[in-house]
Amino acid sequence: MSQNFEKYFTKAIEDLKSENRYREFVDIARICGEFPFAINKKNGKKIVVWCSNDYLGMGQNPQAILQAKKALEDYGVGSGGTRNISGNNSPILDLEKTVATLHKKECGLVFSSGYVANDGAIQALVKIIPDLILFSDAKNHASIIAGVKNSGAKKHVFRHNDLNHLEELLKNYSLSQPKLIIFESVYSMDGDFGKIVEIVEIAKKYQALTYIDEVHAVGLYGDHGAGLTETLSIQNDIDIIQGTFAKGFGAVGGYIASSKIIIDAIRSYASPFIFSTSMPPCIAVASKANIEHLTKSKIEREILFTNVAQVKKRLLENKINIFENNSHIVSVRVGDAKKAKIISQKLLEDFNIYVQHINYPTVAKGDERLRITPSALHNQKMIDDLISALTQIIKEVL
Ligand SMILES: Cc1ncc(COP(=O)(O)O)c(C=O)c1O
Repeated sequence: MSQNFEKYFTKAIEDLKSENRYREFVDIARICGEFPFAINKKNGKKIVVWCSNDYLGMGQNPQAILQAKKALEDYGVGSGGTRNISGNNSPILDLEKTVATLHKKECGLVFSSGYVANDGAIQALVKIIPDLILFSDAKNHASIIAGVKNSGAKKHVFRHNDLNHLEELLKNYSLSQPKLIIFESVYSMDGDFGKIVEIVEIAKKYQALTYIDEVHAVGLYGDHGAGLTETLSIQNDIDIIQGTFAKGFGAVGGYIASSKIIIDAIRSYASPFIFSTSMPPCIAVASKANIEHLTKSKIEREILFTNVAQVKKRLLENKINIFENNSHIVSVRVGDAKKAKIISQKLLEDFNIYVQHINYPTVAKGDERLRITPSALHNQKMIDDLISALTQIIKEVL
């Protein structure tokens, strides 16, 4: 590379470092069967992970592992192609039926990640519906923002969960103008819920389509783990439900569930779906096994929420400032990028506890935090250790 180009890369990195935004990834080895324990590869020590999105420990579900091993032996490592060219297979088709059933929809469509599902589906909707106008919540995830931007459609960003603002924007258009409202059920950083019932009502009033991201809710909420739309029995009123096989379902990959006609059209117009290699069969069968497990088993959800309640209560008792919410996400306010990093480093180095600090651009500047994710597999000792370490460090640093 010539010197001329190198200076740009050097400056870009220096900028990040000067704002305490340079990302250093922690190298950990998860230990199958012992989650949330992992090995910190830097010093070989056993650590307790408190920031994984494997909320229910499904990453080590024995049934999923068994199915994945069998699929590896049966089919090999990869899928061999895109869905259109030799990469279509029964495990993916079965998984699509499973997500359709889960969300009480006619069809499902599997993407390589939840990010790609949002990006691809939103772009496709804009190609399919001429003059579609997008109404997107201000706190929507980066993958939704990417889909909205990449679609090139006219867009309005409404203030987070602000129904009056949403209506104000919708009112400017005739009923016949095609509109799509895009929002989330659980906002992953603050852990607050989207105003699902109210948005559905508004959508009906203004004849808009609805698209909900249930990424942080599937597996965790609802009697069968179908998310907050299941808790609210509102699946039928939402046109497109998007989710992930990562996080609650413990694997990787994303999906949408909707009517037969919508899925058929999106399947045909979503570039990131058509032009990318499909999910490997071993992941498809593991994801299906985890969904099926969680539709029947409630114990993981029950323990998770007991742990969440205890962690929140004890943090508050220790005067640690957390974002108030009714979800499973426990975000500790720090409000300073450098301090957030120091707290996270001290937890890891001095106490073998791993909580990733979250800085801009994932959250706004000044909103830096530690995002703690209790899981179904954290035990009493782990909770006691976390509370005592965090209380001590926060006293020192904040
Ligand atoms: C709200 C939301 N949507 C979508 C995604 C992307 O999902 P995936 O990790 O499966 O790509 C994330 C990931 O963190 C998310 O938080």
